[in-house]
Amino acid sequence: MADFLLLGLFDNVETTADVVDEVRALGVPDEQMTVMSHVPYSSKIFARKPVRLWFLPFVLGGAALGALVAFFLTYGTSYLYPIEVGGQGLNPVPPTAIIYFEMISLFSMLGAFAGFLLQNRFPILTRRMYDERISDGYIGLEVCAPLAVAEQVVTVFEAHHARVIKREDAAAFKPQGIRHLLFWGAVGTGGLVAVLVPLLLSYDIVRVPWINKMDDTVVVRAQEGPRLAAPVGAVPVQGPVFIAGEPATAPLPASEVSLQRGQMLYGTNCAMCHGLQGDRAGAEVGKYFPEIPQSLGARAAILSDQDLFRVIRLGRNRMPGLAENLSPGETWDIVNYVRSLGE
Ligand code: HEC
Repeated sequence: MADFLLLGLFDNVETTADVVDEVRALGVPDEQMTVMSHVPYSSKIFARKPVRLWFLPFVLGGAALGALVAFFLTYGTSYLYPIEVGGQGLNPVPPTAIIYFEMISLFSMLGAFAGFLLQNRFPILTRRMYDERISDGYIGLEVCAPLAVAEQVVTVFEAHHARVIKREDAAAFKPQGIRHLLFWGAVGTGGLVAVLVPLLLSYDIVRVPWINKMDDTVVVRAQEGPRLAAPVGAVPVQGPVFIAGEPATAPLPASEVSLQRGQMLYGTNCAMCHGLQGDRAGAEVGKYFPEIPQSLGARAAILSDQDLFRVIRLGRNRMPGLAENLSPGETWDIVNYVRSLGE
């Protein structure tokens, strides 16, 4: 049964609605009629069945896909790259929930977008009956009907003063399979590449030798603690200073060099309290400490080397311990110097 396509142009909505009614009365089902207009009239205006929206499944499908992607990003990643996190769960709920929320939102939006385009008959891959005047304000009514009915439709169109009546053989408007195949093939391939390439890269299935300085960096991993141990073969410069309350190192001989070092260190660490000669002269800080011995040399003379060492390192009453400032060897240098001070 050869079908014919007819196109009539009408200049107002009422006439078009009447024509739709009359054509329907001729036995043409609604699916065979298309109203074309540059104004988005509601289908009710032309007394036509409301358009059923069927793109909701696309939204739901998109949401499901988003959940799947989020699953890969969270559980998939931590499964492939487990990290020691000190006994805690690898997928804490709050950040995981955020990723799920983001991915589900994003993909359901994309689904809605794709579904909406499809519902609006994108892409148009077949020839369509159209007349430029529809863009200028005319309302076009396309009817597809068998020959016998087509004649009657033309009569209806003419009765309502249709501007143009185009009439063509419907066989010329067949969907063109090869174009559909090319279009959907390209869309599918593009989508697959867009999903697969990032996955292949992010899970190191395809390795790209990115320049990465972090590869060469020594890393202290989480929970590992700082490295305190000295490297193998290192010479220890500071052992325990006291063992069982006694200096752990032997006193240094009072050589020329030791006395010189001692003088310098005394000038920095002691003179402000005890005075340069140990006699409190010019001691800017020492003047606030009346208990400081009048002669450090005389006081030191009645103390053993060990006692001097301990006083310097640990302090005594209001005298601060200076262990933090001085190495054991430096402490012995000062002991030698203090001994050399006259009474
Ligand atoms: C902040 C001031 C201060 C500094 C710095 C200081 N001292 Fe003293 N020093 C004192 C005071 C105060 C006393 C008296 C402590 C007491 O017997 O109550 C004292 C006492 C001493 C005594 C006598 C300890 C005893 O057993 O009677 C010696 C020895 C001594 N200082 C040596 C030194 C040496 C050596 C240095 C430098 C490495 C030094 N001090 C740095 C304040 C200081």
